[in-house]
Amino acid sequence: MGNEKEIAVVTGAGRGIGLATTKRLLEDGFHVVMVDLNPEPLGANAAELKMASNSVEHHALSVADRPAVAGLIGSLPRLDVLVNNAAIFWDGKFDAVTEDDFRKMYEINVIGAFVMAQEAAKVMKRGARIVNIASRAYLAGYAHAPYITSKAGAIGLTRSMAIDLAPRGIFVNAIAPGLIETEMFRSLTPERQQELIAKQPTKEVGQPEDIANGIAFFASPRTRNVTGQVLTLDGGRSMGISIY
Ligand SMILES: NC(=O)c1ccc[n+]([C@@H]2O[C@H](COP(=O)([O-])OP(=O)(O)OC[C@H]3O[C@@H](n4cnc5c(N)ncnc54)[C@H](O)[C@@H]3O)[C@@H](O)[C@H]2O)c1
Repeated sequence: MGNEKEIAVVTGAGRGIGLATTKRLLEDGFHVVMVDLNPEPLGANAAELKMASNSVEHHALSVADRPAVAGLIGSLPRLDVLVNNAAIFWDGKFDAVTEDDFRKMYEINVIGAFVMAQEAAKVMKRGARIVNIASRAYLAGYAHAPYITSKAGAIGLTRSMAIDLAPRGIFVNAIAPGLIETEMFRSLTPERQQELIAKQPTKEVGQPEDIANGIAFFASPRTRNVTGQVLTLDGGRSMGISIY
């Protein structure tokens, strides 16, 4: 790995939005470090990307595993961008949600993002960027209490880090995707998928590349003087579902 290119770490890069982001950041000239808990499809997708580029590497680890995260970040020659994208999700009616559900989701979606960001900030220099992936769901949604809470947490983390890291010249922003066609979305029942699509002003599901493009804006070295912001990419749903 040469250190002439800017280096971006993307978590949850094995598939979905993280994979699309990896591809977009490679196009933008970054060396991309793909991180995912699940070795497959991470390995297979990384192998395919490596056939066309020597600017990509992959590491199977959990974002909540502090020693593994510290080991990886400490091994990089530089770190310019962190995309905190890894998360878990499931549907569950409020009455049926358990404390364990909350703890599991908090552990990955909030603590994991915090661990990644804290280790990253130790080595980041002025001008570095952190992009946290939240969700439009932080505003409201049925049957998602642990997920919505964790994504509201991602926004809180973004805003607090933006303040704390601003004096060091590190910019921290968030993306709030709406419905995006990935395995996460496909894990819902077909009925639930249709119910959610019906609430979209566009009546469409977004694509992972739509989110990757927004992430690329915050990740770009040309995007300066913006921090603590949330960019919502949701086909207009956040304008207010009651009028549709
Ligand atoms: N798909 C949507 O509709 C949607 C909507 C709003 C927000 N989001 C957010 O976008 C991000 C990406 O979602 P996606 O749809 O691509 O999901 P996905 O489930 O397809 O991919 C998530 C990836 O994260 C990985 N991961 C899970 N736990 C991990 C851990 N502990 N350490 C490292 N990697 C881990 C998974 O193995 C998986 O490869 C998530 O933060 C999600 O909450 C997605």
